[in-house]
Amino acid sequence: MKFYSLSLLAAICIWTARAQQPSAVPVYLDDSQPIEKRIDDALSRMTTEEKVAICHAQSKFSSAGVKRLGIPEVWTSDGPHGIRPEVQWDKWSQAGWTNDSCVAFPALTCLAATWNPAMSLAYGHAIGEEARYRNKSVLLGPGVNICRTPLNGRNFEYMGEDPYLSSKMVVPYVQGVQSNGVASCVKHYALNNQEINRHYTNVIVDERALYEIYLPAFKAAVTEGNTWTIMGSYNLYRNQHACTNQYLLNDILKGEWQFDGAVVSDWGGVHETDQAITNGMDMEFGSWTDGLHHSKNHAYENYFLANPYLKKLASGEADIATLNDKARRVLRLIFRTAMNRNRPYGSLCSDEHYATARQIGNEGIVLLKNNGHLLPIQLTDTRKILVVGENAIKMMTVGGGSSSLKAQHEISPLQGIQDLVGSQAEVVYARGYVGDTNGDYNGVTTGQNLSDKRTARQLADEAIAAARQADIVIFFGGLNKSKHQDCEDADRLSLQLPYGQDSLITALQEANSHLVVVNISGSGVAMPWVKKVPAILQAWYLGSEAGHSIADILFGKCNPSGKLPVTFPARLEDVGAHALGEYPGVERTDGSQIFDEKYNEGIYVGYRWFDKQHIAPLFAFGHGLSYTTFRFGKATANKKIMTTDSDITFSIDVTNTGKCAGAEVVQLYISDKKCSVDRPEKELKGFQKIHLAPGETKTVQLTINKDALSFFDTQSHQWIAEPGTFTAHIGAASNDIKSSIDFILE
Ligand code: BGC
Repeated sequence: MKFYSLSLLAAICIWTARAQQPSAVPVYLDDSQPIEKRIDDALSRMTTEEKVAICHAQSKFSSAGVKRLGIPEVWTSDGPHGIRPEVQWDKWSQAGWTNDSCVAFPALTCLAATWNPAMSLAYGHAIGEEARYRNKSVLLGPGVNICRTPLNGRNFEYMGEDPYLSSKMVVPYVQGVQSNGVASCVKHYALNNQEINRHYTNVIVDERALYEIYLPAFKAAVTEGNTWTIMGSYNLYRNQHACTNQYLLNDILKGEWQFDGAVVSDWGGVHETDQAITNGMDMEFGSWTDGLHHSKNHAYENYFLANPYLKKLASGEADIATLNDKARRVLRLIFRTAMNRNRPYGSLCSDEHYATARQIGNEGIVLLKNNGHLLPIQLTDTRKILVVGENAIKMMTVGGGSSSLKAQHEISPLQGIQDLVGSQAEVVYARGYVGDTNGDYNGVTTGQNLSDKRTARQLADEAIAAARQADIVIFFGGLNKSKHQDCEDADRLSLQLPYGQDSLITALQEANSHLVVVNISGSGVAMPWVKKVPAILQAWYLGSEAGHSIADILFGKCNPSGKLPVTFPARLEDVGAHALGEYPGVERTDGSQIFDEKYNEGIYVGYRWFDKQHIAPLFAFGHGLSYTTFRFGKATANKKIMTTDSDITFSIDVTNTGKCAGAEVVQLYISDKKCSVDRPEKELKGFQKIHLAPGETKTVQLTINKDALSFFDTQSHQWIAEPGTFTAHIGAASNDIKSSIDFILE
């Protein structure tokens, strides 16, 4: 007994003495040391093989760490609306986990339609928590490619057509995600504005449009949001794939913007070793190896930045300094994420995340039209509500490509309406049309069987007959994330609604004039019935809480405040890219399979084109109604003359003149009256969303500096604000300017 206590005492003494010795923790593991010092130390311990290994994938969604040194792997996940379910190590098939369902947040067009950066921060923070809980280091999103054509199959994943709006919305998203110690991966850099021929389109765009329209959101994500990763895109620019593009990656991103993070390839976006080494690519993912011709299992060592890179290093064709730069960037990513001991633990499918998803949905739904105050629906004088359309019941979180999710739950619009109405009125459903009955994407199934044996005529007749019996008819249609209907790897084929919806809507309207059309899509659609239908809502893809958000708006539990982040054209030929451009590109005759596509419209994208050509859109950029009304006062400025080193502030009073509380987005557009270069009639340079109680007035102040007056001068490669007279237009939409005021830049 005595013997045991003595030896225990001795052991404790030795242990205490050891604990008091100076720490033997290597510098790279010591988080009291600056990160760059830790990276230096880690690099100095790594072999060339280990450095190369962290620059390419080791599985579908991960890249290697350094096992010997305890440096963890990098795990990525799509993005951008929720955390993708797990696939197998080396196959796209589902891994079959049962703990990988998530909250599906509204798609990014809806987020942009909130025009509320606070919503973006909440979104980023919540999705970052989900990514963190699922142990991801990189969230493959958000996407900020500009909506150049409404046909682009992936517009729904992006933030609209305007560089200023998308810049203001992307920064808080990135910050919110990264506050969890999870990197955001802003994509797809750059000029990935269509899905058709996405691997083969060589974009030809003038330098001014590149800098003024297509790059600002990426630049803001880097210089203001400090994003830790960026994803290169599939297309080519200047005859080089964007993932290995000297100009885009080395000159602009890492040179001009001083990006210190890692460039991640899009999956299969790298096509050869030399450019991948020299042109700024840091982490290669998804390559179909064996010389790119076909996929081979476990072929990661054949990646362009794997064995072929090692060979070039051994022969001296590739230099170690470039490898060190890549490895340093990857290590920086790991230190910022998986090796950050202070990062929070995250959370998954929490009530808070559902509440955030619902709030963003509520704020992003756009009330396009509301004649005769058909909306909000008053349950006190409604007995029978007819809901028509496949999109009232179809689960939309499965489908669309890599953003497809395994949502823990998804409330359909019909369910949302039933939940809200309860026993207060009768809710009847009629299918109306059959669109896409497939509820499967990549092995995740919705569990819905949407097949229907009835003919199109029978379905329509049944809906029309029911419409005659109802007090109000709510039609849910639009697109649905199936191929050519808002989906990755395939553009839409036309602006028209599919599946005969136009004639059904017209017939429903003839049967019952109390018709509300709820359009679900990520882009504008043609609405030949627009004049006849009294109320139209744009509801985007709203994720898990879709039905609740839509019902909140329809029945006035929430007053709509979304504004369009894209112009809705009446006809495709009204869009600059289609009027002048070469969409979808012209195939080369040299057998290279490359399509050249000139962006002939240059900077005239979206409303800039409609303004220039004086074309009335179907619904304008920035448009969105409310159940209340707002009165704008007269704009004033705090000075008449500003200089290039001073600000100018515009003020305007906005009053809620209606009977219910609501929110308005006050928008500031700037025009340059006279300039040495052609300039758009006006450009968005400020906005603020304000909430007003009935009768309340708020003074909105919007401040700009010379950046808001500048254009990109291609000769000097600089932003220039030319002295002269400018006009500030303040309004409620790009086609609803309430007050304008001139000022001078000296
Ligand atoms: C998409 C990316 C996505 C990646 C991984 C690619 O096909 O373009 O947006 O992050 O796949 O799923």
